[in-house]
Amino acid sequence: MIYVLNGPNLNRLGTREPDIYGKTTYQDLVDMCLSVAEDLGVTVQVEQTNAEHQMIEWLHRAVDEGADVVLNPAAWTHYNIAIRDACALLRGKLVEVHISNIHQREEWRHHSVISAVATGVIAGLGIDGYRLALEHICR
Ligand code: DQA
Repeated sequence: MIYVLNGPNLNRLGTREPDIYGKTTYQDLVDMCLSVAEDLGVTVQVEQTNAEHQMIEWLHRAVDEGADVVLNPAAWTHYNIAIRDACALLRGKLVEVHISNIHQREEWRHHSVISAVATGVIAGLGIDGYRLALEHICR
C-alpha cells in the first residue's frame, strides 16, 4: 500500500486560487492517482484532511506498516513540527509534493520543515508531481 496524503484546503482544488493551483478538482486528483496506481500495478490510498490529528494518525499507520508515502502537507509544510516529527518516523520513502512552485511564491513559503526528513521533493509541476512521485516509489 502507498499512501497519498493531502493536507488542509486541498479538498478545495478546482475552485481554490485556480491561477495558482489550476482547475483540476480534488476528485480529478484522486482519480488520476488511482489510474496511475493501476498502471503501475500497486495499491494506493488517497486521503485528504483539514485536521492535524487525523494526518498524524495516518502517518503513524504508514509508520507501523512500513509503507511509502506521497505527502502534500499544504500550509503545514511551512510550520508544523508535529507533522514533521511524524514524518521522521517513516521507514518507507517519503516524497513531498507541492502543486505550485513554493520557491516562486511568498518568502515564507520557501522553507519547508518537512523536506529535511523527506526522501525527495517535487514542487511546481502541478498535479503531475503526484504521478512522478508514485512512479519514483515504484521504480
Ligand atoms: C501547496 C503549497 C503551500 O504553500 C500551500 O499552503 C498549499 C498547497 C502546494 O501544493 O503548492 O496549501 O502545498
